[in-house]
Amino acid sequence: MNNVHVIDHPLVQHKLTLMRDKEASTSSFRRLLNELSMLMAYEVTRDMPVHRVRIETPLEPMDAPMIDGKKLVFVSILRAGTGILEGMLQVVPGARVGHIGLYRDPDTLQAVEYYFKMPQGMADRDVIVVDPMLATGNSAAAAVTRLKELQPRSIKFVCLLTCPEGVAALQAAHPDLPIYTAAIDRGLNDHGYIMPGLGDAGDRMFGTR
Ligand code: URA
Repeated sequence: MNNVHVIDHPLVQHKLTLMRDKEASTSSFRRLLNELSMLMAYEVTRDMPVHRVRIETPLEPMDAPMIDGKKLVFVSILRAGTGILEGMLQVVPGARVGHIGLYRDPDTLQAVEYYFKMPQGMADRDVIVVDPMLATGNSAAAAVTRLKELQPRSIKFVCLLTCPEGVAALQAAHPDLPIYTAAIDRGLNDHGYIMPGLGDAGDRMFGTR
């Protein structure tokens, strides 16, 4: 699939398997999501621009590469995006954070926005939108449409799991959007859940099942 990056590193795949297991406790699920997010942050930031800064090692001065973490914005789609956000912030602590509140109407499966808060100066920033499950693609597409109004420098989307329907829907709305995921599962069931998936990511991470 064009513009879809499956992060097939063995550590990512191993942790994802542990998360999928229905016997995984809330605390294990949360810890694994946190660890996985750090690993995914590594992949999604691979092409981040670096600039040289003058420093002094104990032996001599040098021009050394640094990223500008403050230019990066992690945008979490509430509520499940929170789980990925925390891990990513551990890797890029200087990043800014935005939140989009979207819920899925259970009848239409369409995304309805109830919250939108972004840092100032979005036009100079690179945005990474995070949501563990790219299922119907409706929330992700709505979030990216909304963010594009602010004309950020770039936008990427990171999820843990997706399926062909989710990728197709998001790419139909935003063909230019790079998607990063740990796996592309078989498909959606009648309730819009990814199969075999891992269940409801928000419920599993917050213990609200
Ligand atoms: N949201 C989830 O949490 N799980 C799915 O399988 C689909 C959407």
